[in-house]
Amino acid sequence: MKASSANCPEWLTRRILNAGGSISFHQYMDWALNDPEHGAYSSGRLKVGKQGDFVTSPACSSDFAALLAEQIADWFAQLESINVQKLPLTLVEIGPGEGDLIYDLLSTFKEKFPEIIDNLEIILVEPNEGMLARQKIKLSSISHDRIRWCSLKELSIKPVFGIIIAHEILDALPVERVVLKDSNLFRQGVKINSKGNDIERELEFDFLPLTKHLERYIKDIETHLSIEIPPMSAPDSWCTELHTELANWFDISSKAIVRGAMLIIDYALEAKRYYSSARPSGSLMSYKGQRVTDNPFIKPGYWDITSHLCIEVLEFLSSRNSWTFLGEVRQGQALLALGLARRLHSLQSLPPDQLNVALIRREALLRLVDPAGLGEFRWFAFAIDNLSNSYNEDWKLKTKFLSSNPY
Ligand SMILES: C[S@@+](CC[C@H](N)C(=O)[O-])C[C@H]1O[C@@H](n2cnc3c(N)ncnc32)[C@H](O)[C@@H]1O
Repeated sequence: MKASSANCPEWLTRRILNAGGSISFHQYMDWALNDPEHGAYSSGRLKVGKQGDFVTSPACSSDFAALLAEQIADWFAQLESINVQKLPLTLVEIGPGEGDLIYDLLSTFKEKFPEIIDNLEIILVEPNEGMLARQKIKLSSISHDRIRWCSLKELSIKPVFGIIIAHEILDALPVERVVLKDSNLFRQGVKINSKGNDIERELEFDFLPLTKHLERYIKDIETHLSIEIPPMSAPDSWCTELHTELANWFDISSKAIVRGAMLIIDYALEAKRYYSSARPSGSLMSYKGQRVTDNPFIKPGYWDITSHLCIEVLEFLSSRNSWTFLGEVRQGQALLALGLARRLHSLQSLPPDQLNVALIRREALLRLVDPAGLGEFRWFAFAIDNLSNSYNEDWKLKTKFLSSNPY
């Protein structure tokens, strides 16, 4: 693990000193992203998009939502056929960012699937005020009167019938980090190095003892995935991320849906690559102004901090918390199954005066499936049935993007 340091702002210095001089990395990441006043998301400082800090698939091209709409519409049609209680259909988006995805999905439904729109409620889950304010502005221009915001907790108390989408949100949940030092595993902490004076305060990593909770989490993962953390022959200072918030997230999201499906799209790696000795520094990255660094201490509260997910951990924690895991594929494969090639081909029929538009859309579509970029994202499908004893008793959801031969 490379040593990282950066200047510590006044507000964070006070917090860390009040906490006794050292905090967990998890706490640091939570404050840097979500602190109501200083956090990069909650303050609204981070912006998603080409003119913003980093580009996500919905921000790259509205063709992304148009292709995804094929899957959502198909899932809704299947759910409608088992909607015996005639409940309203609901689409829940968690962590909507700028609101691009839901905006473009609604536009596509209006144009291509009007039968869905008549009975559709949209619920957005966004804990960060700065982001929520921009989502409200963006969606005020769309004429759909059943859009509301609420928390996952509120949804779990009053669940809905439908679909959850979580696009690039689980990678923003604060993670714990563990580090190998002198053959012992430590919880990574964050402390202040005052360099002997009160003016220059720098953030630095610290080594904290593992908590009982972390020890249990690691044991669980090792047992269920048949792996070792740290792996054999891990070098000194080997470090990895542990997604300790995921179990609770799957639990609460499983209570938010009466019957339905969930789509998670995020960067993810197989366990053997994630917890490998050949990956000694984990997967943590920080983004700002289309730049990227592996130093998470750079200007806390201004930069995004993210970490990849582990595919098998996601499968394990989801199924332990009532979800049925249906499968996963890379984004390139998913979008091809949903008609990306046809869409590319159809650009040829745009009139000559729209050549420029066609070229821009073509480039964006290719970016969505580029294996060296957005095409590496993983699409995970899940189902849940809280009305029967278990999913699969009365119905079975088919998923276009998991099918090698989409129906
Ligand atoms: C990386 S952005 C992704 C935005 C959007 N989904 C996209 O792909 O363009 C992460 C979003 O999740 C939100 N977020 C962060 N923590 C969250 C949480 N615990 N629950 C729901 N949303 C969260 C952020 O405020 C932000 O809107």
